[in-house]
Amino acid sequence: MINGDKKAKVVVSNLTRKFGDLLVLDDVSFTVGEGEFLSIVGPTGCGKTTFLNCLSRLLPPTKGNIFIDGEPADPKKHNISFVFQEPTPMPWRTVEENVSFGMEIKGFPKDKMRERLNYIMALVGLSATAHLYPNQISASMMQRLTVARAFAVDPDLLLMDEPYGQLDVKLRYYLEDELIKLWQTLKSTVIFITHNIEEAVYLAERILVLSNKPAKIKAEIKVNLPHPRKLIDPQFVEIRKYVTELIRWW
Ligand SMILES: Nc1ncnc2c1ncn2[C@@H]1O[C@H](COP(=O)(O)OP(=O)(O)O)[C@@H](O)[C@H]1O
Ligand SMILES: [Mg+2]
Repeated sequence: MINGDKKAKVVVSNLTRKFGDLLVLDDVSFTVGEGEFLSIVGPTGCGKTTFLNCLSRLLPPTKGNIFIDGEPADPKKHNISFVFQEPTPMPWRTVEENVSFGMEIKGFPKDKMRERLNYIMALVGLSATAHLYPNQISASMMQRLTVARAFAVDPDLLLMDEPYGQLDVKLRYYLEDELIKLWQTLKSTVIFITHNIEEAVYLAERILVLSNKPAKIKAEIKVNLPHPRKLIDPQFVEIRKYVTELIRWW
């Protein structure tokens, strides 16, 4: 049991990855609960992206296993969605066609796809721009497009790799609130990677802190605060300080 009441959705067991002699991930094990929002923080270069690539099976682990619903993670069976730091829209498809892409690949029935597409487009505020092309929309809409596309397939696991790292602060806060709303509505299991401590404390139910390379799990922190969180709430400040202290020695 995770966080007291959640059933295990994803189990990562002894995950290790080397590039030649370079050890990047060193025997990482943890569990993610069904519908949990987990954040992983670690310094730049510690192996966060490598870690997500192993989870999504873009990269084979050198050692270790990933289980989803008790079975070895398998892209043919499981739905693993990805949001990268750089948005990756398909320029020849409209906003709406970009958002529906994953559902098409997964073979969603037409009527179910249409219904879910309309629902998600409205949730992320993209309905009015459904028929525009990616080069006609703003940076914030582009990020919403990528996030909407990832949620649309009803993923078993949604992996986010510093999706808001390049955005200005105001926009970031706005999209973070929107992300929480999406997660609360759609109840997906999310692993959100960031090097930004405040962002992790703002979003996550639980935070895993990675060490410097080779990455190991250094600490686990539960954030038992309701959303939307307030950056100046004394409890928020206390947790943020605690995590900051933990990683002072990166
Ligand atoms: N394909 C690769 N070949 C060799 N080394 C790599 C490769 N990908 C990543 N690395 C190395 O692994 C380490 C972790 O990289 P990365 O996972 O991108 O870190 P992060 O996302 O935490 O910034 C870095 O030292 C990087 O140079
Ligand atoms: Mg990275």
